[in-house]
Amino acid sequence: MEQRRGRRLVLIPLPLQGHINPMLQLAHILHSNGFSITVIHTTFNSPNPSNYPNFNFYSIQDGLSETEYTSDLLNFIIALNIGCVTPFKECLMKMLSDTSEEPIACMISDAMCYFTQSVADSIKLPRIVLRTGGVSSFVAFSAFPFLREKAYLPIQESKLEEPVAELPPLRVKDLPMFNTKEPEKYYELICRFVKETKNSLGVIFNSFEDLESSALKTLSQQFPFPIFPIGPFHKHFPEDSTSSSLSSLISQDQSCISWLDKHKPNSVVYMSFGSLAAITENEFLEIAWGLSNSKIPFLWVVRPGSICGTEWLEALPSGFMENLEGRGHIVKWAPQQEVLAHQAVGAFWTHNGWNSTLESICAGVPMICMPCFTDQKVNARYVTHVWKVGLQLEKGVERKEIEKSIRKLMEENDEGKKIRDRALKLKEDAMLCLKPSGSSCCSLEGLVNYILSL
Ligand code: UDX
Repeated sequence: MEQRRGRRLVLIPLPLQGHINPMLQLAHILHSNGFSITVIHTTFNSPNPSNYPNFNFYSIQDGLSETEYTSDLLNFIIALNIGCVTPFKECLMKMLSDTSEEPIACMISDAMCYFTQSVADSIKLPRIVLRTGGVSSFVAFSAFPFLREKAYLPIQESKLEEPVAELPPLRVKDLPMFNTKEPEKYYELICRFVKETKNSLGVIFNSFEDLESSALKTLSQQFPFPIFPIGPFHKHFPEDSTSSSLSSLISQDQSCISWLDKHKPNSVVYMSFGSLAAITENEFLEIAWGLSNSKIPFLWVVRPGSICGTEWLEALPSGFMENLEGRGHIVKWAPQQEVLAHQAVGAFWTHNGWNSTLESICAGVPMICMPCFTDQKVNARYVTHVWKVGLQLEKGVERKEIEKSIRKLMEENDEGKKIRDRALKLKEDAMLCLKPSGSSCCSLEGLVNYILSL
């Protein structure tokens, strides 16, 4: 493996799809800027090294039990941060003791792998953080102690619609909460990940100045270190060289593209709720009927296991797909970036995970927002009330509202047109920041120099 002197980086992704994708995209960006890349990853959800011949991969055992893998997201992340400490430290020590290898310039850790800070301190290795979510949601996370002090948290049902005056335009119901029986554990996790981000030497965001300037300003006043908004990561390269199919943990169904090819421009609603969110059987049926009644063609990603209590599509009424006469296509997992870039796609019904939100913005596709948890709620509020490139389903998952929202966004009318026009304009802004003197390019140059100065 080629080594680049003084430029060896160790990257640590959180082993979840929405975190692996941006970390490996960042690896490409830094590699093309002259760094050599070593990825330390868990055996659980491990990336496929053969897709990345230019990078080194080291696998560590996370020590998690079967119950911890299948526990909820909160307990999984906490267990991972405990289980990885020793194997990670041992792996790093082994790497450092190999004198035939280049010294390590610094580690870049997912913010949610907060355990890496104490390991970095103990072996005196500089640590920079990649926060894979947006800047605005990070500002909300870092406000948790204050939000608790002011009694915004825990959330009271009677106050859901009230504004959070200190975090405009968020309402109480937009705060990045997670539905759990153990809220104290969740607060502790958030405080820990914010604290260890603060203790790092800098933060990289998959975002860009024009998109989140106000949150970036707030953060730079609160945090003592440099901030590098160098996104959108996936747009640094031509589509095929860093395609998300390389880092996809599930195989992407290419039938989506040939199905879309048969449709007119802007005529299809694409729907996906990412790699983690789950819905109830009742919500699934409301969505299905809302889509069917709208008469608009749809491409729907139904991830196996994402409908509580069922395996895949067994809850669909019999004859449902046949009655659509080709107007609907359901797959288990799609090549999302290619789908969003397809001219047939006119709207994206999304859970507003940050990657999906940013991918939609970069494709100029307006969104129907159905956030499920954590940062998704903040992202959805920004989509609808700051960037104004989407609509939010506010009354829960109900077939009539679904039909109305889809029609509003897809059919000829003033409100829909304004949203579509703004989405196209925002796409242009996203492309401008990656031009040679654009903000993300300049920030990337700053990041490269910063790493070399550590
Ligand atoms: C998680 C969290 O839920 C999210 O809130 C956080 O911002 C990041 O981590 P996830 O729910 O999976 O991520 O959503 P998202 O951030 O949108 O990432 C999903 C990724 O999977 C995207 O890069 C998307 O392109 C890809 N994807 C999704 C596919 O390749 N195919 C699909 O069918 C659906």
